[in-house]
Amino acid sequence: MREAGVNLVSVGIFSWSRLEPVPGRYDFEWLDRVLDLLHGGGIAADLATGTASPPPWLVHQHPELLPMLADGVRLHHGARQHYCPSSPAYRDAAARLAEAMATHYHDHPALVMWHVGNEYGCHVPACYCDVSAADFRSWLQRRYQSIEELNRAWGTDFWSQRYSDWAEVIPPRRTPTWPNPTQSLDFQRFSSDALLECYEAERRELAEHAPGVPITTNFMSFFKPLDYWKWSQREDVVSNDAYPDPDDPESGLIAAMNGDLMRSLARGRPWVLMEQTPNRVNWRPVNAAKPPGLMRLWSLQQVARGADGILFFQWRQSRAGAEKWHSAMVPHGAPEHSRAWQEVKALGADLGKLDAVCGGGVDAQVAILLDWESWWALELPSKPSGELRQLDQVRAYYRHLFDANVAADFAHPTSDLTPYKVVLAPNLYLVGEAAAGNLDQYVKAGGTLVMSFFSGIVDPDDHVRLGGYPAPFKELLGLRVEDFLPLAPGRQIAVEFADGSQGGGDLWSELVTPHGAEEIATFGSGELAARPAVTRQHYGEGTAYYLATRLDPPSMSRVLSEVLARAEVAPTWSGPAGVEAVRRDSPQGRFLFLLNHGEEEVEAPVPAGGLELLSGERLASSSITLAARGVAIVLEPGSGPSAEAVEAARVPAEHAGEGSLAEAGERDA
Ligand code: GAL
Ligand code: ZN
Repeated sequence: MREAGVNLVSVGIFSWSRLEPVPGRYDFEWLDRVLDLLHGGGIAADLATGTASPPPWLVHQHPELLPMLADGVRLHHGARQHYCPSSPAYRDAAARLAEAMATHYHDHPALVMWHVGNEYGCHVPACYCDVSAADFRSWLQRRYQSIEELNRAWGTDFWSQRYSDWAEVIPPRRTPTWPNPTQSLDFQRFSSDALLECYEAERRELAEHAPGVPITTNFMSFFKPLDYWKWSQREDVVSNDAYPDPDDPESGLIAAMNGDLMRSLARGRPWVLMEQTPNRVNWRPVNAAKPPGLMRLWSLQQVARGADGILFFQWRQSRAGAEKWHSAMVPHGAPEHSRAWQEVKALGADLGKLDAVCGGGVDAQVAILLDWESWWALELPSKPSGELRQLDQVRAYYRHLFDANVAADFAHPTSDLTPYKVVLAPNLYLVGEAAAGNLDQYVKAGGTLVMSFFSGIVDPDDHVRLGGYPAPFKELLGLRVEDFLPLAPGRQIAVEFADGSQGGGDLWSELVTPHGAEEIATFGSGELAARPAVTRQHYGEGTAYYLATRLDPPSMSRVLSEVLARAEVAPTWSGPAGVEAVRRDSPQGRFLFLLNHGEEEVEAPVPAGGLELLSGERLASSSITLAARGVAIVLEPGSGPSAEAVEAARVPAEHAGEGSLAEAGERDA
């Protein structure tokens, strides 16, 4: 580990059956030895509570803790994560283990962070068993107080679903056709909360018995089942697992989005990449290997987007078990013959040169709105189109920002939007009063909003907002949507810009009647010919744009370029296509990350006189050669303490562990 510059290890994640081999008897001896060894080697521990996979004895004692699918099928032990989130037997046993861990390890010098559970919601995001049903009813009683209020919210007069007593209420189990949509939406809210309760039960024990140690649980990027806005508030450090597919040409973009989301969820707190793979995973139909340089590129990309730590799943590739074909830092064979090991070692050395970057943020003038509740509601069945997907919509916007090197945060629609010049709303199907008011205020006060079709359609009960679509945004956008005309897969609709140039859209179109908004583009064919496709309205001090279709990427770029230029949002950097540029500002200075996603060497402009951290070279000219998948990290001249100071502070790779451990050991970092 020292050879690879490792200074933090996440340990014990699935070790429950070792830590508590029989009910109530804990065995910490082996883990003591591991932690002592780590500490002796100058390596810190992110110690897991080990609760993500209940041991067989617990299932044997409490078979009712096994989770159940919507159609009544029980999932058994023999894999992992086989627990019902609402199970008191599971929650109690997990909390007892967390308590025992905290009591035993609270003053171990290697301990710098707690890793609670693992990837909550992975494999089993929701449970439909009777225990969960009872918990769901309690959750609903807290939300609605009376059964009458539940009947109102769920619209139960439709299809004779009116409940006369709480006892009749169940999760949306498998039904002949669509279950009640508000019931489904509430069940998604409840399921995210039920898992959060599991996390909280352990967190309480850790906070009580090991006060002062930061606590995390690892997220899964854009994971639909958990409302990470809510979850991230309960973490001291946000951590993420990301496994972009090396075979997918969009992976660089997707990984950038993941990083931006984590930075946004962290809201100023540190975040780390908890898991990525050194090379292949084992869970895709075909598991592509990472070509040379890709692991480094994607690692440094996460640092660029705000990560202060880069970890891997996993250290040593196992010879047994379900993940023996998942790559590891230490492979099955001799490490010295493994390219992955060589690259892991080199990455350790690279990361050792980047301490000055830590703690730095990314200054974004653009926010993309993302609300899990709206995402859940949007993707419930029985809509004008079943093809509308929240993340596709987010990506349609993000693609331009990524290509143009414009930094963006993600934001909840009720959050403070005043720091942003431009706010993008890829789809905000469900919107509450607070969010609607917030957006209205934001534009009135001078902000620029871009909103896509099928936004402002329902309230938090998933009831349609009457009075003409999109009811809460009609004034703001200066238009009314008279009807939706979704497009079948593969169908395109022509779009014509005011200057006569042509574009296109797909997925969706709408019959829009402007009431004040000007037309930037109109539909070019069919029933909607000459009707608005893209509009702009000046509202208060600000501007609101509306997109009535999913524009093709060139048309989207055209619209967003205009929006960003008018709002005076400048790109971070301009250079050859395929090079991603992100600027991180830390107390030590401004760091320009240039990441070449291309497979060709390129010449990239850089601020002359800057210090390139990875090579340690002072840049004499105003351009740098980036190899295929090459990365440069430039401390901009005059942007912080002298470059010499940063250079002097660089931790030589072979001592990376010691240097960071000294700080980490103080635990108040
Ligand atoms: C994650 C999980 C790890 C490992 C990894 C494989 O979901 O946290 O334990 O299974 O995936 O890619
Ligand atoms: Zn259950």
